[in-house]
Amino acid sequence: MQFSHLIGFTVAGASLTLATCPPRTEDGIKAGDDLAQWAQNSINAFFPFQDGWQEAFDVAFSPDVHATFNATVFTFDTFKTAYEGFYQLLNGGFGGTFEHGYFSILGVPNAADNGGFVTATGWEGGHIGGAGGRLVNATDAVFMVVAETESCERKIIELRETSNLAQS
Ligand SMILES: *[C@@H]1O[C@H](CO)[C@@H](O)[C@H](O)[C@H]1NC(C)=O
Ligand SMILES: *[C@@H]1O[C@H](CO)[C@@H](O)[C@H](O)[C@H]1NC(C)=O
Repeated sequence: MQFSHLIGFTVAGASLTLATCPPRTEDGIKAGDDLAQWAQNSINAFFPFQDGWQEAFDVAFSPDVHATFNATVFTFDTFKTAYEGFYQLLNGGFGGTFEHGYFSILGVPNAADNGGFVTATGWEGGHIGGAGGRLVNATDAVFMVVAETESCERKIIELRETSNLAQS
């Protein structure tokens, strides 16, 4: 963050809390990579196929997140309920063989704070019923808007997810 920017906030009295957050990395490419890494770590933790995803979900998402999966619109609570259902499929249905990975992940930082925009594509799948079962390997994609909160945390305020897993 530039010095002039800090002064601007202080003089305007608009948001002293904002000014106390660690400044964004000045190098925009590095700031984007850092945001993308945060998103990747968050997705890895809340992807609903392993124990502990619920806690990671609570940490990553803003309570007023606007989420969509394909054409269905979700709130924080309804999205978490949908993820409970996915967990049954991904954990139980694939008998412990479910995995996912990334094709690409791109972070574009906001100009003046640690939020920004993340776009990722990847694969997800495993063997139906467990090892030896039919291999399903589907594609997925996500776009998210990440905000810096007043307590200087990152939260996902918008998430748009698509996957063709169920069609495979
Ligand atoms: C799914 O496909 C991707 C490439 O398209 C590959 O990298 C990945 O290893 C595959 N996963 C499985 C479980 O076969
Ligand atoms: C998303 O759409 C794909 C393609 O129609 C479908 O296979 C899949 O079940 C849908 N997933 C959800 C969670 O709606």
